[in-house]
This record gives sequence, C-alpha cells and structure tokens, in this order.
Amino acid sequence: MTIENFEDARKAVAAGTSVADAARALVATMTPAERLWCLDGDAPTLAGMAFLARDGYHHDTFASAAVDRIGLPGFAFSDGPRGTVVGNATCFPVSMARGATWDPDLEERVGDAIGRELRASGATLTGAVCVNILRHPAWGRAQETYGEDPHHVGELGAALTRGLQRHVMACVKHFACNSMENARFTVDISVDEAALHEVYLPHFRRIVDEGVASVMSAYNSVNGEWCGQNKELLHDVLRDEWGFDGFVISDWVFGLRDAAVSVRAGLDVEMPYRMVRQQQLPDTLERGDVSWAEVDVCATRVVSTLLRFDDVLSAPAPAPETVGAPAHRALAREVAARSVVLLRNTAVDGEPVLPFDAATSVAVLGRLAGTVNLGDSGSSDVWDLDCATILDGLQAAVRDVTHADGEDVDRAAAVAAGADVAVVVVGYTYVDEGEYIGQVDPDLIALIPSADEPEVAAAFEARIAALPPTTKPPRLDSRPGGGFGTGGDRVSLRLRDEDVALIRAVAAANPRTVVVIQGGSAVVVSEWIYTVPAVVQAWYGGCEAGPGLADVLVGDVNPSARLPFTVPVDETDLPAFDRDAKSFTYDRWHGWWHLARTGREPAFPFGFGLSYTTFALEDVDVSLAGDTIEIEGAVRNTGARDGADVVQVYAELPDPDAPARLVGFARVGVEAGASEAFRITVPRDRLARRDVETHTWKPAAGPHSVVVGRDACDPAARRVDLVL
Ligand code: BGC
Repeated sequence: MTIENFEDARKAVAAGTSVADAARALVATMTPAERLWCLDGDAPTLAGMAFLARDGYHHDTFASAAVDRIGLPGFAFSDGPRGTVVGNATCFPVSMARGATWDPDLEERVGDAIGRELRASGATLTGAVCVNILRHPAWGRAQETYGEDPHHVGELGAALTRGLQRHVMACVKHFACNSMENARFTVDISVDEAALHEVYLPHFRRIVDEGVASVMSAYNSVNGEWCGQNKELLHDVLRDEWGFDGFVISDWVFGLRDAAVSVRAGLDVEMPYRMVRQQQLPDTLERGDVSWAEVDVCATRVVSTLLRFDDVLSAPAPAPETVGAPAHRALAREVAARSVVLLRNTAVDGEPVLPFDAATSVAVLGRLAGTVNLGDSGSSDVWDLDCATILDGLQAAVRDVTHADGEDVDRAAAVAAGADVAVVVVGYTYVDEGEYIGQVDPDLIALIPSADEPEVAAAFEARIAALPPTTKPPRLDSRPGGGFGTGGDRVSLRLRDEDVALIRAVAAANPRTVVVIQGGSAVVVSEWIYTVPAVVQAWYGGCEAGPGLADVLVGDVNPSARLPFTVPVDETDLPAFDRDAKSFTYDRWHGWWHLARTGREPAFPFGFGLSYTTFALEDVDVSLAGDTIEIEGAVRNTGARDGADVVQVYAELPDPDAPARLVGFARVGVEAGASEAFRITVPRDRLARRDVETHTWKPAAGPHSVVVGRDACDPAARRVDLVL
C-alpha cells in the first residue's frame, strides 16, 4: 500500500500495518521543511509571545506539527490540570484536593469530564497530568500535583490519564525533579540513581505504563544537564528502559537551549514556538551535528502517536454545551466535598462541632469567604464564569448566615458572637503560591529570535483574528502583576498574621468556631489549632468549592478525604527548601519519611483524616501468592453514620537506609454499624530496590513487614512480617 498522506497511513494501519511503520513511510514522503516543521510549535515566537501576553492562553490552543499538504492534523494543546484552560470551562478542584480523595475511580471520572470539555474546546493534547513529587509544601505549584508519595501520585495520575485519553491525548509533566518554582529555569538537581528511580520517577513510569501519549520535559537540569536535552532521562530511562513510544515535548519557551543536543537526547517537539530549533537546526544539519535520520525519528514519533490515537481524535467532538455542562458542575461539587479533610472535630458541651444543623445560625468570616479562590493564576488557571464561593455555598445550605470579611477583627468577633457557629475562612491565594516567572536568565533571553518568519507570522495572525470570543472572568480585572508575575514558592508555611489574629478573636467570641483552610498544600497550624474545636482543609475547591464544603459542614456528605502529605508541627521539621537555590540535592527523605527518620512527630501524618463516624480494621490477613502480596480484611464502621475509610498498606524494607513505602490503598464505603470486606493486591515489584551497580531493579528478598493501617503513623496498624 502506498502511503502519501495521513489518510493513506490511517488506512494502512486499519489494514494491519504497525503505526510505527506507517508513520515512517509517511515521514519518508515529507519534504525536509515539513519534517523540520514537526519538531517545534507552529506559531512564531514574537507574535506568539505577544498574543500570550494578551491572555492568549485562554483564547486558543497551541498548535504543532500540522502539515496541510498531507492532511497531517498535528496536535492542539490546552493546559490543565483543574480543567480546560482554553475558553470558559468547568473549573474542578485542584489536583492536590483530588489527591486527598484517595479515589482513582473518582479521578478517572474527572479526567473523562475534562477530556470531553477539552475536545469540545478544540484541544487534542493536554498538559493536565502534573505529577512531580511534593518534596516540600512550599513548592509554589504544589496544588498541581497529588501529594508527596510516588505510589499514591502514580495511581491518581494514571486514573486521570485513563479518563482524559478517552477523548484526547494526555501529556505527563514535568520530567523530572521539578519540585520548586522560583528557580525552575536555572536550578540543577543532584539526585543519585536510587533516589531518582525509587522516589522521583516511579509515578512517571506508572503513567507511561498506562499508555500516556506524551511526556513534557522539565525546565530544571538534573545531574548537570537540562531536562529538555537530557539523554539519560529522555532516552536511556524513558525509551530504553521503560519502552515509552509516544512523543516528548519541551516545557514552554525556555525548555531547551541547544537544538542539536535536544534532538539527539530524544526531545521530539520544542514548544510552543518556532524558536531555538528554527534558528539552529538548519546549520547544525549542514554541519552534520545532527542527521536527517535523527530528525525523522522525532517526526515519526509524533506521527505514530497521532495514528495510535486516531480513533479517539477522529471521533466527533462533543457538542459545545458539554463545556460547563450541569453534569460536570455536579461532579465538581462531588469532588469538592469528597476532598475536604476533617483535621479536628472536638466536642463543645458534649457534642462535636461538626456537622452543624442547617437550622443553626452561622457567621462566615474572613477575606476569602466571599472570594472566588481557584488557586494558581498561571498556566493552570481556568476561566470559569460560574463559581460559587464558600459564602455562596453556606448561604444556600443554612437558614441564617451573617458575614464579615474580617478586616475589622472586632466587628468579625461581634458577628461571630451573635451566631450559633462561626466559620473562619483563612489561607492562601494565587498571590501567595502558584506559577511564577520572575527575572529570566539573560542566556535564555538570548535564545529569542530577533524577528519572526514573515509567512509563519502572517498565518498565525490570520488564525488568531478568526478566533471565537472568550469572556474574561471579572475576578481577574484587578489581578496584580498579571498571572505569572505573582505566586511562586511560598515564603512560609504559616498563615498570615491577620488570619491568625482573626482566628484567635473569633474563637474567643464563639466556642463553636470552625477554621476552613484554603491552599495548595500543608499549612502549619500549631500556633492556633488548640484555640478552636474544628478545622478542615478545603484546598482550592474549584467552581463548586462553596456548595461542596457546605455539603460536608452540614453533614450531607461525611468527610472521607485523607491528607496526601505530612503536616509538620514546625517548618524546621521538614528538609530544607531554598527557593533561590542554584543547585539542590534531592534524596530519599522528605515528607513522612523525613519525620520518621529524624524522630519528629507530625502535627498530622500522611494519610490522616477524620470522619463523622469511626472505623476499625478487622481480620487483617496478609499472604503471598506468586508475584503478589494479598492483603485482606474488613473495615467496621463503629459509629452511627455511613462513611468511607481509606485502608493504607505500607511496606518496610530490610535495609535501614531504605524508606518504608506506601504500596497499596483502597477506599472502602461502610454503612453505620456494618463491616465491609476489602482486598488489596500488591505486586512484589512495588517492593523492589534499584540496583545501582547493574542499573536495573533488584527483586524484593528477605524479611519485610507489611503494615496495614489508616495513616502512615497509625498506632493501631496491623504489622505482619513476611520473608520474600
Ligand atoms: C508550565 C507548564 C505548562 C506550559 C504550557 C509552562 O509555563 O511550566 O506546566 O504546561 O507552560 O501551559
């Protein structure tokens, strides 16, 4: 069968040719200019950046590798992870909130809904799968990932990928070790092979095994080489060891510096502009620093992935009404409620403060209570026009609501004193944490071309002139510094002094005070937590943040979320974080592992969360079965309300230098008074160690302990010793 265009390639695949062979055959018919065209974004750099500065993120997808002559569709990228970034779409709770659900099935449904909205908005590839490990809660983009543990993060990211890829191609990012923001363009991360493979990469591998279409390289360098041109990561690990057969894209604009090195290392597409490669590749090809065969490998990987996803991408796009559909808003509310972590709920006059009755009077206090607070205002922002604040949610759920923004603390205290219950909303916004572009290194600025190619610029201007309008949400009218100029890594894990003063004043005025924390990761609560009876972590809860939280506070939803990270008593209990670091070492000890190793008690351990009922684990049995470890047992609901518990399985390895691992978990719904069986299957591979001599995995052998509990420090956990 002759292959001269994309349609021919499709037919060849339908007739049994492999996608790789069909793609190779098609690339062989392309002109040199067309083959190079597939190696970067389709937009010109200067006009593209000017458009971006005019909120272009929300007006159009980023196009790449479209070659009209042969009908090659290329791909159209929209970012995530809390929804579709292009146009006006449903804003879901941030990934960290979804991580707190510990529920991959729910996350898959979120992926399905976001995938539908992406397709309906014209996107075919999304950067929604952000899975860098939360090495430290000060990371400005903590909210975009799922937590501090590789197994947990991998399962959630794989679930999102499954849901998304029913409708679009997904891209997992940022490969690798991208867990700090302010220094992201310049910092070098030193990491040894064991830490890299056991802590910073397993979740990427999990998502590659799930069949993710694309991988985005990180801005930072790892062990001395920029991730966008890092052969060890992009070629040796990703392709040779893991067998990834999709395509790799760079992070935006400053994701690579040397075109030839990047091609040879295995970076397929420079995003999002015709920038470094367009300037450098013609000469390097001429000099022989890169060969046409190497260019063709990159182009072929893009084309073969498009063929692999052709069924998905050529299916009719969902109708425009899919975007913001009632079912998606209902899902956003369900997830918002399911993500609320109940951290504290003590009794006042013999009764826990939460849930409170819808007939009580509630004072809602704090500057964030009436604010649409969706989180980061950089590449993950979603322009949802229909968002309900916490105040909106409580006003709809409770008979009698009064509100004060807390600026006048005495007034807030007086309002609180007049109500049955006081709800104080505190925490962060995109100004305190999020994506950040500060001063850019002159070496990077020097990579920007002095002029665009005239034809490319003309085609781009024509494209953006024809775009349908998108409405900017009013919340953004007075955004200081635009989107990317604020945020960055946190300067502290404490609340602001004003928030702490408000909590203290309200708690003194009303013994039934509930503190609601908004933010993307851990907040140190030690200085004020004992002054109030109830505290919930409510994240950036998306467009239905208020109704979802209200569902929990009035008891329509029994909280079942669990912390996806450790909350320290004091910031100094954690490993160091230097947001201006030029170089940094990532080892195997962060989060709960670091605290366990240094003997510090956490304020709240990894995996912790309360419920309005109580649970007990029963009949736990651990057995070996071939390549797996089988954990069976039951969860008994020992209280008076239906609820759900999260059973967590940890493995302790024989080597004292190896941190224990979360190796399995299951969310188990149980009716009041009943007992529900669970079974968790753990492949033995999850206990393997990286062998730095052979650069392969050493199967688990010898004495191990399996610990089955309800959080990482559960004193009632069952421990079973095994010899593998
Ligand atoms: C971010 C990526 C994002 C890309 C495109 C970059 O600034 O680091 O996470 O996917 O922009 O929006």
